[in-house]
Amino acid sequence: MVEIITIDGPASVGKSTLAKKISNYYEVPLLNSGRLYRAVALKMINNKINIRNKYKILHCAQTLTNKNINSKDLFSSKIDKIASEISKKKYLRNQLKIYQREFPKKYTGKKFVVIEGRDIGTEIFPQAKIKIFMWADAKIRARRRYLQFLKKGGKCSLKRIYKEIVARDINDLNRKIAPLQPAVNSVLLDTSYLDIEQAFNVLKKLLVNKLYEARISE
Ligand code: DC
Repeated sequence: MVEIITIDGPASVGKSTLAKKISNYYEVPLLNSGRLYRAVALKMINNKINIRNKYKILHCAQTLTNKNINSKDLFSSKIDKIASEISKKKYLRNQLKIYQREFPKKYTGKKFVVIEGRDIGTEIFPQAKIKIFMWADAKIRARRRYLQFLKKGGKCSLKRIYKEIVARDINDLNRKIAPLQPAVNSVLLDTSYLDIEQAFNVLKKLLVNKLYEARISE
């Protein structure tokens, strides 16, 4: 099986940006698992599916297409909230687990694949040898998100972003099934005082060492 690099961490910590940089730099496939939850949430909105309708939510997950997963409409505060709510549901997590576990099988010829989310190193690929757990203080994450909005010319309130991040943290950290927590053999990357380039440089160094260690232990 191809080597899997797992990157887990809370909302707005920079996982997607960093994972994308690694994927581009090493020319390896990337799965942003949050997109699966978001794509289900978008389908629920479009088809007016109630949050308690297990059968229809499962059907949304079973019929996800690449088009759904790569949709440009996956990022809004409404989708943030629904995705966070449905991610507590065991039946949905089990269904999406199948998709995530199939992903690396498509890329056996690659050096490695990168998968980012909340439970990739703990639940989805506990056997992965290279696991990163990203962290940054919620206030710092909120400020970064706020500045991103401003840069894009958007209007928003820093307080509201902070509240939303804290609410998502509470869901992620406290849900009964697959809560966000560092895998025992993960490396902690605290980006509170690192910009994205600095974090990327740390990760590149870490990967050189980890890939070497993984080869030794084969
Ligand atoms: O990483 P993101 O913000 O795009 O994730 C969207 C939502 O999906 C978020 O509320 C947490 C949830 N999620 C999850 O529970 N497990 C994952 N592996 C990935 C995301």
